[in-house]
Amino acid sequence: MAQLAQVKKAVNFINKQTKNFKPEIALIAGSGLGWAVPPLDNKVIVPYTTIPGFLQSTVPGHAGNLIFGSYKGHNVVIMQGRFHFYEGYQMKEFAISVRTLKLLGVQKLIVSGAVGSMDLKLRPGALCVLKDHINFMCNNPLIGNSREPEFGPMFFDMSTAYDKDMRKITLAACKKIGLRAREGVYISVTGPNFETPSEIKMFKKMGASVVGMSVVPEVLVARQCGIQVLGLAVVTNMACGIEKKPLSHEQTIRESKKAEVNFKKLMEILFVKL
Ligand code: HPA
Repeated sequence: MAQLAQVKKAVNFINKQTKNFKPEIALIAGSGLGWAVPPLDNKVIVPYTTIPGFLQSTVPGHAGNLIFGSYKGHNVVIMQGRFHFYEGYQMKEFAISVRTLKLLGVQKLIVSGAVGSMDLKLRPGALCVLKDHINFMCNNPLIGNSREPEFGPMFFDMSTAYDKDMRKITLAACKKIGLRAREGVYISVTGPNFETPSEIKMFKKMGASVVGMSVVPEVLVARQCGIQVLGLAVVTNMACGIEKKPLSHEQTIRESKKAEVNFKKLMEILFVKL
């Protein structure tokens, strides 16, 4: 089935559940951040398991729900739980959720994720506001998946993938709530293993500040279909080899949990100001 037909099926199902609620802003909540969201009015929860053709979250720390509602009059949808290439999905399948958001009416997308940092000024607990990325997954969700004009042109510009105004608003908001934040470049890897010290040295030389196993596929799909993107990377650890400690997923979840309070405060501002 062409992806448009598949996405339309999901959208029709969701619209029935939400009575055609039209979200303007979407948040994809990264590892452990699914609960770090402000309380929404008129909340409707649609589990991924019920949506035809939708992927399922399989990783600890990722619930699988679309949460719709409004915050101070602003209509939002939160993807509580995301999908990763290392779960075994085909790259193409990553486009389904973001394209569903697009057809639901989303214009702005906040993509968040946990990362390891190569920037000594970005320590665990800090936020890296993405200004660019390097796709090191050697794959792309749009390959063989770009022939439906409803989702944008096959060839599209990536020079301003991460919206400048949204970044500016975010940095100001971080300052206001006392959250350490700095702009940086995200490099995406497939995982599931963490990197080697030599890989991290190479990534640093390439110009990356933080490394993670998600974000980029979603951003590519969103930019193709004209959604404005804000990328937020929560630093959960220094990248491999920078400190002498071994890395673990438990640490990622633990540090994300610690970041919850600040992340929630930030969303309270961003849902209104973006
Ligand atoms: N590497 C890749 N992905 C990650 C890391 C890391 O060090 N920390 C959290 N997600």
